[in-house]
Amino acid sequence: MSASTADAAGAAGGTDTDLMEKVVNLCKRRGFIFPSAEIYGGFRSTYDYGPLGVLMLRNVKDAWWRAMVQLRDDVVGIDAAILSSPRIWEASGHLANFTDPLVDCRNCHERWRADKIGGVCPTCGSKDLTEARAFNLMFKTYAGPVEEDATVAYLRPETAQGMFVNFMNVLTTTRKKPPFGIAQVGKSFRNEITPQNFVFRTREFEQMEMEYFVPPAEADTWFGYWLEERMGWYLDLGMPPERLRLRHHQADELSHYSTATADVEFLFPWGWDELEGIANRTDYDLRAHAQASGERLEYFDQASGERYVPYVIEPAAGATRTMMAFLLAAYDEDEVGGERRTVLRLDPRLAPYQVAVLPLSKNDALVPLSRQVLEVLQPVAVCDFDVTQSIGRRYRRQDEVGTPYCVTVDFESLEDGAVTVRDRDTTEQTRVAVEELADAVGRRLRR
Ligand code: GAP
Repeated sequence: MSASTADAAGAAGGTDTDLMEKVVNLCKRRGFIFPSAEIYGGFRSTYDYGPLGVLMLRNVKDAWWRAMVQLRDDVVGIDAAILSSPRIWEASGHLANFTDPLVDCRNCHERWRADKIGGVCPTCGSKDLTEARAFNLMFKTYAGPVEEDATVAYLRPETAQGMFVNFMNVLTTTRKKPPFGIAQVGKSFRNEITPQNFVFRTREFEQMEMEYFVPPAEADTWFGYWLEERMGWYLDLGMPPERLRLRHHQADELSHYSTATADVEFLFPWGWDELEGIANRTDYDLRAHAQASGERLEYFDQASGERYVPYVIEPAAGATRTMMAFLLAAYDEDEVGGERRTVLRLDPRLAPYQVAVLPLSKNDALVPLSRQVLEVLQPVAVCDFDVTQSIGRRYRRQDEVGTPYCVTVDFESLEDGAVTVRDRDTTEQTRVAVEELADAVGRRLRR
C-alpha cells in the first residue's frame, strides 16, 4: 500500500483491520454469504449466496440494469451462453493473452501471481522463486461425452464476448444504430491463481458489462461520458464519495485490446482496489471476430451510405465484488438508548429486506392484523416477518441486516387501525394508518 493510499484509508476508516472480519462474520451469521461446500470443509474459495445474499445481489444487479437498460432507449440486453466455442477465445485473443505470471516458491511450494508479491513469498518470506511462466486463466472443459480436441469448450472468462459475437443479431433485430449498447449480467469464470479477500477475487463470479458501440470519431467523448455515468451510479446508491475514486491506467497496464482504461476504485480495508473497469476497446473485438468468422461485423448507415466498424466503450463491473463493497461501506456501529448496535446503512434499493413486519408479541390476537399488514406491504416491498424474541432484539436483528423500516403491530393497532413505522437510521417512530401504509412506505422507499 502506498503512503497516500494508507492516509486515505485511515481518513475513511478503511484500515480498520477488524472491518473485514466483522463483515465476513456478519455475512455468514445472517445468511448473506456462506463458504461453499462447507460441510466438506469448503471448496477452493467458492461461495454460496444465502437467503439475504441472494436478495442483495439481485438488488445490485437490478439497480445496474435499471440504470443501464431500463432508463435508457439506447441500450438493450442479452443473455449469452456460458459454455463457449474455443473459436471465440482464439479470435478475442484470450487463448494467447489472458494469462497471469505464475511463480512457485521453491521453499514452501506455494504458488503466487508474480506481479502481486514483489519477489518475496508471502507465506514463508523466501526469495527463492521460480521464473514466472504465463498461466492461462480460462477454465477448459469438454462439451459432449468424448474428451478430445474437437469437443473442447471454455467457460467464459468475461460476458463481453457474448455481445460482440451477437452484434449483427442485435443490430438487425432491434434496428438500433450507433451510438447504442448491449448489456449483460451473468456468471464468468477465471482460474485465478490466488483467489482472495472473501468474494473480492473468486474463480466463479458475476459481472455486469455493457458494450457501447459508437462511431470511431466519437469514442473519446463517449469514454468520458461513461466514466461520469458510472461514478454517478455508485454515488447515487449511497457509496461515500471519499471511498470512491477514478484511476486512469498507465500505458503499460492496458489490456491487449484497449487504448484507454480507467478503473472505478473503492477504498477496501487493504487499500484502493478495482470495482469496475471502463475501457475504450476500439474496434479490436469486432474486427477480430469478423476476420476469424468471415462475417461482416459492421454498421451500414443507409441514409449516408457510410459503412464502418464501430468503436466500443465498455463499462465492466463485478456484481459480487460490488455487493461486497456496498456491505463494507454500509457497516456501522453506534449506540441507541445506551445500547451498542450494529447497523448496515444500506440504501433501501440494495437492502435485502426493505420492511420487517413485527407483531409486538406472539399473542394470538395480533396475528390476523399482522398478516394483513404483511399482505398490504408485500406488493410494494420485500418484507420479512418476525414474531420471536423481544421487540428490541428484533429491531437490532433488522438493523444488522440493513432493513430500512420496521412496522410494528401492537395492541393499540387493534383499536385504532394504525401501526408504528420505525426508521433504521434515526430510530424515529411514526404512527401510520394501515390503509395508508402501502403508500407511506412506498413513498419512503422511493425517496
Ligand atoms: N470485459 C472486461 C473485463 O472483464 P475485468 O476488469 O477483467 O474486465 C471486470 O473485469 C470486473 O469484473 C472487475 O472490475 C471486477 O469487478 C470483476 N471481476 C473480475 N475478475 C474477478 C474475480 N476473479 N472475482 C470477482 N470479480 C471479478
